[in-house]
Amino acid sequence: MPESLGVQVLHGPNLNLLGTREPEVYGFATLEQIDHELAALGKEHGVEVQCFQSNHEGALIDRIQEARTWADAILINPGGFTHTSVALRDALLAADLPVVEVHLSNVHAREEFRHRSLVSDIAVGVVCGFGPLSYRLGFEALLGQLRD
Ligand code: DQA
Repeated sequence: MPESLGVQVLHGPNLNLLGTREPEVYGFATLEQIDHELAALGKEHGVEVQCFQSNHEGALIDRIQEARTWADAILINPGGFTHTSVALRDALLAADLPVVEVHLSNVHAREEFRHRSLVSDIAVGVVCGFGPLSYRLGFEALLGQLRD
C-alpha cells in the first residue's frame, strides 16, 4: 500500500438536508456527523479524506476532475444524480479512479426509477440501505480494495 492514501468523498443534491429531510427514509444523522465519522476513520487508517457536498452537477464534476490530481479513490453518494446524470458518470470514467457508490436508503426497495443507477456498473462496489453505516461500510471496503 502506498504511504499516504487519499479519498474524495462526494455527496450529491439534497444530502445537505440530512437530519431533517424525510427522516423516515434517511434517518436523523446529519451530513456533518457522517463527514465527521469518515474523517475520524480516515485518521485511524492514515488516509486523507476530503468531503464535499453540492446541489450542483457541475460543482461535483469539478471535484471529480480535481480528485484525479490527489486522490486514490472516490466514495460517492450521487443522490438523485445517480439515476439521471450521464455527465457525472463520464466524469467518474475520466477520473479513472476506483469508485464506491453508497446510498443511505435501499434504492431497490423504493420507486422503480431509483432502481437504475448510471454509476453502479462503473463502481468497484455499491452499498445501500444501511443509513449512515453505508458510508462506513463503503469506506472500509474501498480501503480494503486499495490495499489489495
Ligand atoms: C439516495 C437515494 C437517491 O435515490 C435519492 O435521490 C437521494 C438519496 C440515498 O442515499 O438513499 O437523494 O442517494
